[in-house]
Amino acid sequence: MCGIVGIIGKREVTPLLIEGLKRLEYRGYDSAGVATLVNGHIKRRRAQGRIANLEAKLQERPLTGTVGIAHTRWATHGVPNEVNAHPHATDRVAIIHNGIIENFQEIKSELIAAGHTFESQTDSEVVAHLVTHYLNQQMRPKEAVAAALKRLHGAFALALMFAGEHDLLIGARRGPPLAVGYGDGEMYLGSDALALAALTRKICYLEDGDYVVVNGRSAEIYDANDRAVARKVVETAASGALIGKGQFPHFMLKEIYEQPAVIGDTLASYLNPATFAINLPALPFDLAKVPRFTITACGTAYYAGFVAKYWLEQVARVPVELDVASELRYRNAPLPAGGVMIVVSQSGETADTLAALRYGKEQKQKVLAVVNVPESSIAREADAVLPTRAGPEIGVASTKAFTTQLTVLAALALATARARGTIDKAREAKLSHAIAEVPARAAEVLAHDKQLKLIAHVVAHARDVLYLGRGPSYPIALEGALKLKEISYIHAEGYAAGEMKHGPIALIDEQVPIIVVAPSDELFDKTASNTQETVARGGKVIFLSDKAGIEKLGDIALTSVELPAVDPFVAPILYAIPVQLLAYHTAVIKGTDVDKPRNLAKSVTVE
Ligand code: G6P
Repeated sequence: MCGIVGIIGKREVTPLLIEGLKRLEYRGYDSAGVATLVNGHIKRRRAQGRIANLEAKLQERPLTGTVGIAHTRWATHGVPNEVNAHPHATDRVAIIHNGIIENFQEIKSELIAAGHTFESQTDSEVVAHLVTHYLNQQMRPKEAVAAALKRLHGAFALALMFAGEHDLLIGARRGPPLAVGYGDGEMYLGSDALALAALTRKICYLEDGDYVVVNGRSAEIYDANDRAVARKVVETAASGALIGKGQFPHFMLKEIYEQPAVIGDTLASYLNPATFAINLPALPFDLAKVPRFTITACGTAYYAGFVAKYWLEQVARVPVELDVASELRYRNAPLPAGGVMIVVSQSGETADTLAALRYGKEQKQKVLAVVNVPESSIAREADAVLPTRAGPEIGVASTKAFTTQLTVLAALALATARARGTIDKAREAKLSHAIAEVPARAAEVLAHDKQLKLIAHVVAHARDVLYLGRGPSYPIALEGALKLKEISYIHAEGYAAGEMKHGPIALIDEQVPIIVVAPSDELFDKTASNTQETVARGGKVIFLSDKAGIEKLGDIALTSVELPAVDPFVAPILYAIPVQLLAYHTAVIKGTDVDKPRNLAKSVTVE
């Protein structure tokens, strides 16, 4: 969370900084700010809320200068107002920060005792004062930053600019990512390659613990022990064009509609179009011998992992443990020798997922990452990567990343089943054909958009909504509820249909819509009975099923959406789409900010 950009330019940098911030707004949008050097003095403009508010301020009071830093904030310490907005500054240094300084109280008390005055409630401001404290002791900027870094506990990416130093920026990384960009007589710092994509494709990622001293032509990188180190400069694939919404009113809707295409792109890496055989890249372990998979992730990616647990257990007959990364990282769970940890992440930067990955490595697991951003920390630290090809996902609520994660995980389940001899050739061929057809079937599902938009009017008036499913449809129910909560702010719960009678059935009355995720599969009749139980109590059922399912149960539903009849193996990928659309239209009816829901951020780099 929080986005960072810094530039030492040959030209006016404020417009470039703002353009960079716009690409980073998905990381947080509580406030935004920029600082430049004007005749050697630090000047700032900051605004609560969106970058547009900052732009309005800059219109009134422009900021000149060829060196600057800028920040978009997701609040951790201190409410999202202008005083707490970054950059934080003294008359000697301005800083921007992503992460948490855990021992800020202690340092702040010391500095207050030494005569420093603080203006904000943030943990970040302490960095500006601590560096100033060392500068006041006649240290050079680099030494002052190195000394300050040694005092800081926690996770952070930082960029610092110094009064009187037009040819200097310093960046530091412990935890959240920080990239150095190489331009033509210009140099950049950014939270990720996307932030810098309009400026350069030559990127160097700092390693954990590194700090970097940048001038207009070059960068010197030091590790945590102050030793000069060389880090690879790579060409990134991030597109220079600001990603647009096309004809769609929101990124989320555009991304929902991209699913047939990006599932197809993803499949192209794993499916031989001539033979329909699933092929994975070479892996540093033998799928046939894995004693257990441990799957971990956060948010929507976790639900993709949840579906994969069913697939790997049912089709490949391999034991799977599953947990959210924020629990797994601290659970001290014993993981078996020779085991494989699967981490799933769109951004590849989620702090808890990265920490769980590191825990897995400590426990001698081979780590396999299903990741959308190939240059991300998770992709770089994993032993092997199975990329999703969703392209940049801008809507904070994940959609196309989820279905492409499912696509990759389905391919993994099939490859594992083949390696372990748990399916015969005929079944393998049937399932890989079913996967190959997903893009076409996904396009058919999208044809129900209008109907789902109408149904959203029922959901939009509800205070509580229940989502029910069994087997691999259970995680889809959870994902449906999460989507609705995230963007419409309506309370929703996903429940295993069979578990409903142990609690949530008490919630049911005529006011509660119940979304039943029920493809025709071997558990259909069980889910049908649970659906009857809700109807008997006045529940309004919105039934997501196929022709056969609707023939059996459609009568009792308030309304049914007929999805394509597919092999139940691939149903979770397709049934994800109507729950996305339902959440989307409900949020639009409620008038929320669909792409940037309150309090959320797309890339969660704090724990
Ligand atoms: C945030 C986002 C979710 C996402 C989760 C995990 O909560 O809002 O959409 O599923 O982080 O992110 P990751 O990048 O690891 O998939």
